Amino acid sequence: MNKVILENTYGYEDFITEDERLFLEEWAINNNSYLKRNREGPYRNFGRLDSLPETPNLIKELKKKLVELESIEKVIEAPQNADWLGIQNETAFVEPHMDYNGPDNRYYTRRYNILISLPEEGGQPIYGNKVLNVKERMIWRCDAGLVIHSSIPNKGKKPRINLSFGFLMPKSGNSFETKLM
Ligand SMILES: [Fe+2]
Repeated sequence: MNKVILENTYGYEDFITEDERLFLEEWAINNNSYLKRNREGPYRNFGRLDSLPETPNLIKELKKKLVELESIEKVIEAPQNADWLGIQNETAFVEPHMDYNGPDNRYYTRRYNILISLPEEGGQPIYGNKVLNVKERMIWRCDAGLVIHSSIPNKGKKPRINLSFGFLMPKSGNSFETKLM
């Protein structure tokens, strides 16, 4: 695993192995029928992990690995969407938005996204006006409640599959952007 700077944030290459990626890809596709259509755009299916019949142990292990890697001392579930799985098909994209931070303004929503499958072309996140050159099997940090984010429209038959872990984090002294500025 290799920590890499991605414009205004960072990620870890090879956070999951190719075998784990294949396993998660199959699990995601098998669960597609439990996902809901996202009203915000076409060909986007989305579901909280706790709305699916089964969450593989691997996902729980990956979350634990992430919490240790990122030294997240207090794990608080992200408001509204918690941890989720998203599957998008051709032409779909994420419209610019910020995530809900909940009612306590001392905290914000931070997400870590694992790209389980990327389309042949497109699908890259746009994060604070920067296109992030992400790869499959990478995890990247998205301060989703602080930075406007979206994505480039998908091209080709291969879906964009994203597994997102969400945490409510204290704002004070914890923003990567603040450190960069
Ligand atoms: Fe978001």
